[in-house]
Amino acid sequence: MVDSIPVITVDGPGGVGKGTVSRIVAARLGWHLLDSGALYRLVGLSALKRGVALDDEPEVAALATHLDAQFTGNSGDNTVITLDNVDVSDEIRTESVGSAASRVAALPAVRQALLERQRRFCRPPGLVADGRDMGTVVFPDAQLKVFLQASREERASRRYKQLKDKGISVSLDALLREIEERDARDSNRQVAPMRPAEGAVIIDTTHMGIADVVENILRAWNGRPD
Ligand code: DC
Repeated sequence: MVDSIPVITVDGPGGVGKGTVSRIVAARLGWHLLDSGALYRLVGLSALKRGVALDDEPEVAALATHLDAQFTGNSGDNTVITLDNVDVSDEIRTESVGSAASRVAALPAVRQALLERQRRFCRPPGLVADGRDMGTVVFPDAQLKVFLQASREERASRRYKQLKDKGISVSLDALLREIEERDARDSNRQVAPMRPAEGAVIIDTTHMGIADVVENILRAWNGRPD
């Protein structure tokens, strides 16, 4: 990481709006975007496709090291994500891949394998990095660290609407259970557990719209001490 390249980290649990908010902030600043959750989702999907057990640490870490993934149309709403040259942009957003991602993300060797790859996203003029450990582990020197939170019920209801809009039918109860399980796994794991970084600006988005959250972050960026 080059210290002179500005970085804003946006961490928080699933369904909190990180992805949308980070994309808009990156577009407004004209910066690059790192969707680190997509990398963990790609590793989870790759393991599922190859029949590799999700707790087989050496095998999953090898998949992460050799992950043949491309992100094109960076920062845009229509980023195309390919795995082994196949467009998996929609497939990686399913709950089953999300759950696989959360399981492989608990393996230290997998996190290590993805570390440098994530840091390579840091290029001029700047980076907005979205994830769980962006401010604590991957970009500890980021100039602005944000942690978003929202109630589980609100997050489940947002996911429900998102999936419904995509024509995917799920039960709200099942989503809530899934979110609870994922929160517990992401927060209690030994390596890089999800938690606000020291000095992070904490924003509770339960009763906020996307535009308000974006403005809060841009205000924090513009008003940060030198
Ligand atoms: O943000 P997301 O739902 O796309 O992330 C999918 C999973 O990946 C999430 O349950 C935890 C894991 N993850 C992680 O451990 N560290 C990150 N920086 C990003 C995601």
